Parts: sequence; C-alpha cells; structure tokens
Amino acid sequence: MIPILVLQLQITFALTVKLLLSSDPCEWTESLRQEFLLIAEGFWSIPIPSISISYNRAIKAKEKVVESLSLVVEERRRAMEEGERKNDVLGAILDEKAGNEHSNEMIVDLLVSLLLAGYETTSSAMTLSVKFLTENPRALSELKEEQDKIRAQKGDDNEPLVWNDYKSMPFTQCVISETLRVSNIVGGIFRRTLSDVQLNGYTIPKGWKIFAALRGPHMNDEYFKDARTFNPWRWQSDAEKTPANVFIPFGGGPRLCPGYELSRVSISVFLHHLVTNYSWEPAEKDKVVFFPFTGTQKRYPIYVKRN
Ligand code: HEM
Repeated sequence: MIPILVLQLQITFALTVKLLLSSDPCEWTESLRQEFLLIAEGFWSIPIPSISISYNRAIKAKEKVVESLSLVVEERRRAMEEGERKNDVLGAILDEKAGNEHSNEMIVDLLVSLLLAGYETTSSAMTLSVKFLTENPRALSELKEEQDKIRAQKGDDNEPLVWNDYKSMPFTQCVISETLRVSNIVGGIFRRTLSDVQLNGYTIPKGWKIFAALRGPHMNDEYFKDARTFNPWRWQSDAEKTPANVFIPFGGGPRLCPGYELSRVSISVFLHHLVTNYSWEPAEKDKVVFFPFTGTQKRYPIYVKRN
C-alpha cells in the first residue's frame, strides 16, 4: 500500500533536482528533501522564533539547504572553468553572459525558489488527478486508451516518451486542466496595486495589497457549468470559450508561473506510466480538503498492482 502523495513528492523532488543539478537520487538528495519538508512546514507557522518550533526548524533547514547548495554552485563554477559543462538548469544559468554577474548567493536563492515552487504543487496535482480518475472510471478508461495507443506505437516498453508524444495527449491535458481547476494547491496570489483600481463598483486604492483568489473564478458556475463537478470533457467543448483571465491555475501577467509547461509534462509522463503499467484501488476512503491548503486528508493511499 502506497500513500500516493508521499510517492509523488519523492518522484517530483528527484525529477526537479535532476533537471536543476543533474543529480540522481542518492543519500544527499534525500537529506536535501527532508530539509525541504521542514521548510515547507514552516510556511504554515507563526513567524515568531520565540514561540514557533516549526518556524525555528524551517529557518535552520533553510540554512542547511543554502550551505549545501552553495557548495554545489562553487564546485560547478570550478568545473566550468576547467571546461566541464552540464546540460541542466544550473549549467544554463552559469553559461549565460550574465552568469558571472550572478553571485553564488543569488543562484542558490533561485535554486531554492525553483525547488520549493515546483515540488509540492506538481505532486499535489498528480495525487489529485489519480483520485479524480479513480472516482471517474469513464475518464480513466478514455485516458488509458489514449496512453495505450501512444505506448503501442513504441518499439519496446522502455522506449521513452518524446515531445511529440506529449503533444498527442489531448484528453490527458483535459484531465490535468480539470484537476487544476477543481483543486489547485495554489489558492491565490498576492499583488500590490500600482494605481487606484476600479472593480465591480469598488475602488481599491493605490498601494494596497490584495489577495486574488484563483479558486473564485474556477468555482464560478457562470464560467464553468456545474463548477463543483469534475468534468474533463468540458475542456473539449468549452476551452476556446473560457476567457483567458478565468482559468488561471498558474497565475498570470509578468509573474506567470515559469514552471507551467514543466508541471504539465511531469504529470502527463507520470499518468502515462501509471495507466499503461499498473492498476490500483484506493486503500482507504479519503477526501479533498481545502484548509490549510488543498490536498487529500490521508495523502490518498492506494493498492497498486503491476499489469
Ligand atoms: C501544478 C503545478 C504548479 C502550479 C499549480 C503552480 C502555480 C503557480 C502560481 C499560481 C504562481 C504565482 C503566479 C503569479 O503570481 O501570477 C507560481 C509562481 C511560480 N512558480 Fe509555479 N506552479 C506549479 C509548478 C511549478 C514548477 C514545476 C516550477 C519550477 C520548477 C514552478 C516555479 C515557480 C516560480 C519560480 C514562481 C515565481 C514566479 C515569479 O514570482 O516571477 N512552479 N506558480
């Protein structure tokens, strides 16, 4: 029996570290992940060191992560001076003309942000997509048919997916969009008004901080018929009619999530391997909760069987 969220957190972390630093899963990546778990816990604590244990733990974990990643960046700079290049995100940052102008501190800060921002978000969407598919056998069967067709065109079972395969998964994309619409882990985003803003007869004064609740439009029946129902087919007929500022799981404007395509690719590849190789059933009853953040109460444990 596997709590699927736990598995997915491990997969997503390993994938992100691989993309950023070319590191394969090992003791070091696992201890880094444990520190990230503590940092993530600190998000939901009162930020007063004298009274909050989890806040203190998160600060200490962040220091350890920074120390560890600083060594990696230093080491990589040295290797690059000797002409060694790696095809990963850190390599790209250091390769850029501006690479030498970025201090190690700035680069480490960027790596920490990418790991934090991409880790739980994608894992949570993966977990919830499995839950929704389990509860919607017709959607699961349609998605499986799409993925089996792609697998059948491959020479052997281990042949990896390529970009064109990812682009031939229209129904899988509908499932991912619908999962993000119904249960995005990011409930909203902060913005500061740069001028007075008129909205529905109200004035939000210049300089105010506002919280834009992404779930608001996603759950509005005016834009999405029976908005509380998981219905991936709505994206086949309604996608073009949905105004761009209504479906915003990745935010929008200049701060749009830079990982939006990467997370869709990760979820698609995960679903491909899951449905083409395994069947599963829920181990316990579980339900979606929205507080303190979106997820399932019990991390969605399932029994998995290889086909
Ligand atoms: C299902 C997965 C994901 C969801 C739902 C998601 C959602 C979001 C949202 C709503 C924002 C705020 C955008 C705004 O303020 O307008 C954001 C920002 C960000 N995301 Fe994601 N994200 C996901 C995956 C990822 C991944 C895989 C990465 C990178 C590995 C990533 C990196 C970032 C970064 C660095 C920011 C800050 C951008 C900035 O402030 O300029 N995200 N994400």
